[in-house]
Amino acid sequence: MSTLQDLIEQARVAFDAAVDPAAVEDAKARFIGKSGAITALMKDLATLSPEDKRTRGAEINQAKQAIESLLQARRQALADAALQAQLAAEAVDVTLPGRVRGAGGLHPAMQTLERIESIFRTIGFDVADGPEIETDFYNFTALNTPENHPARSMHDTFYVQGGHLLRTHTSPMQARYMQTHKPPIRVIAPGRVYRVDSDATHSPMFHQVEGLWIGDSVSFADLKAVFMDFLQRFFETDALTIRFRPSFFPFTEPSAEIDMAFTSGPNKGKWLEIAGSGQVHPNVLRSVGIDPERYTGFAFGVGPDRLTMLRYGINDLRLFYENDLRFLRQFSHQTV
Ligand code: DAH
Repeated sequence: MSTLQDLIEQARVAFDAAVDPAAVEDAKARFIGKSGAITALMKDLATLSPEDKRTRGAEINQAKQAIESLLQARRQALADAALQAQLAAEAVDVTLPGRVRGAGGLHPAMQTLERIESIFRTIGFDVADGPEIETDFYNFTALNTPENHPARSMHDTFYVQGGHLLRTHTSPMQARYMQTHKPPIRVIAPGRVYRVDSDATHSPMFHQVEGLWIGDSVSFADLKAVFMDFLQRFFETDALTIRFRPSFFPFTEPSAEIDMAFTSGPNKGKWLEIAGSGQVHPNVLRSVGIDPERYTGFAFGVGPDRLTMLRYGINDLRLFYENDLRFLRQFSHQTV
């Protein structure tokens, strides 16, 4: 029969050999379980004299305690190892380069619209929004452009089913706004417009900002003053080269196109048309029930995309809509 010291040694070897908790518990059963070696020794005590029983019993108990503490140590060691393994498996390598989520920026066209809105708000203009799918009435008829009017052929329009069309300009907002507001009226209406056009300065979808001021004796001089003031604030300089060029629009009389010269970039010195404008035609006022004898006013339709080209010296409008991040990123730090 092995000595108690041998038993303890065997238990140590068995526990050390157990690589998982289940194996540890198996080993435990062999030594201190109900039918384990220590328990068997306890049973043998019955045959001894009371004197020997006490001594031998105490020795066996000591051995049992020694085995129990070996068991405890092994359980703990395995639990620690499991925890370490889990930590290692879930470890984050803080030395790896981070996965950056790029901060987005407003598209230059939108930055320009926001600049224009904030400038006009400071001089008391409302900002209105209207449908991009328009009726023939608002896009043409209400703007003194009846069916068969030659001016209609100037717009090669995208027609959609049901007699609707993609608006060719923001001018329909003049009629819509005047139908729901009484003079004095001061409003701008920014938005998308559509034409069958595509070259360096035309895109099939582009932006316009309509402006309208109707009131008592609002004149062409007011148009010039408001528009020049707007441009100076937009470009943050008084040194602008601007011309008002006589033109024709059915919904204004007199009418002017407004041109501005590039002051930088490859187009330096070239003129770019940036707006149509004029005194609102009496027929337009009549079509929305405003008395042209009582009220007058001006309107303009400015191309914010063109203003953006001039502001940053960009020579091709199509760059705005190609979504090339190398181009767009240059504007992402710009604030409104
Ligand atoms: N709607 C015109 C266009 O898109 C531009 C325009 C001209 C707007 C004269 C106006 C205006 O408000 O008065 O070509």
